[in-house]
Amino acid sequence: MQFEVFTLLPEIFPPYLDNSIMKRARERGLIDVRVHNIRDYTHDKHHTTDDTPYGGGGGMVMKPEPVFEAIETVLGLNAPFDLAQDNSDQTPPKPDSIIPIILLTPQGRVFNQSIAQELSQHKRIVLLCGRYEGVDERIREHLVTDEISIGDYVLTGGELPSLILIDAISRLLPDVLGDPTGAEDDSHAMGLLEYPHYTRPPEFRGWKIPEVLLTGAHAKIDKWRREQALLRTLKKRPDMLEKAELTKADLKFLKNLESEERSEK
Ligand code: ADE
Repeated sequence: MQFEVFTLLPEIFPPYLDNSIMKRARERGLIDVRVHNIRDYTHDKHHTTDDTPYGGGGGMVMKPEPVFEAIETVLGLNAPFDLAQDNSDQTPPKPDSIIPIILLTPQGRVFNQSIAQELSQHKRIVLLCGRYEGVDERIREHLVTDEISIGDYVLTGGELPSLILIDAISRLLPDVLGDPTGAEDDSHAMGLLEYPHYTRPPEFRGWKIPEVLLTGAHAKIDKWRREQALLRTLKKRPDMLEKAELTKADLKFLKNLESEERSEK
């Protein structure tokens, strides 16, 4: 999987990508993250990438020219406008959506595990990091094919959101995680929060681990884990239960819980 990141702050990326699982995935050629400085695609003396908004108001807006030029150059798209010609009668085509061109913005669809899964099917993805107050609307209308937010809050730019997408997508790719089933039981992967984990020692400060985990009885352990996942999701994220794929046994377990709770009241 190849990530093409476009940013005004390329220095932010290496410290994260040069560590741990991301580093190993890159070294093994499972992912390739290419970080492009949008400023390299400016042509004026001051390398200007932003300007004041038309209509007034505070903040600066990212200019369209360097962003279009950077992405079109790297993707090898023919510049839809030949500036030397009069092409006022032409509507430039939007780039091919086979390579998603994703703008990170608080206005995008909210990122989740199923979007990570969807994006992990692509061979190449463009991540465009917004800065300042926003980007010129023509970038949204004529270049970008998708807009993603990592949550309902506003950051100073799209760099951290880009890293979050790269991480969440990469760990779903074959061989990136040491354990091939590593991502299967993840919280959210199966529509439920994940069950609790324990490791040695079996007793710590008088707190024992659940007996069942010491039995070696895999079917029993699987059942306990499933029930813990249901319990946890019910307590912490009841909204997720409405969308989760539940088996008859799951429904029975939840129903029993409900009646137990009622009889306790
Ligand atoms: N840029 C600023 N805030 C953001 C957010 N919440 N998600 C994605 N990109 C952003």
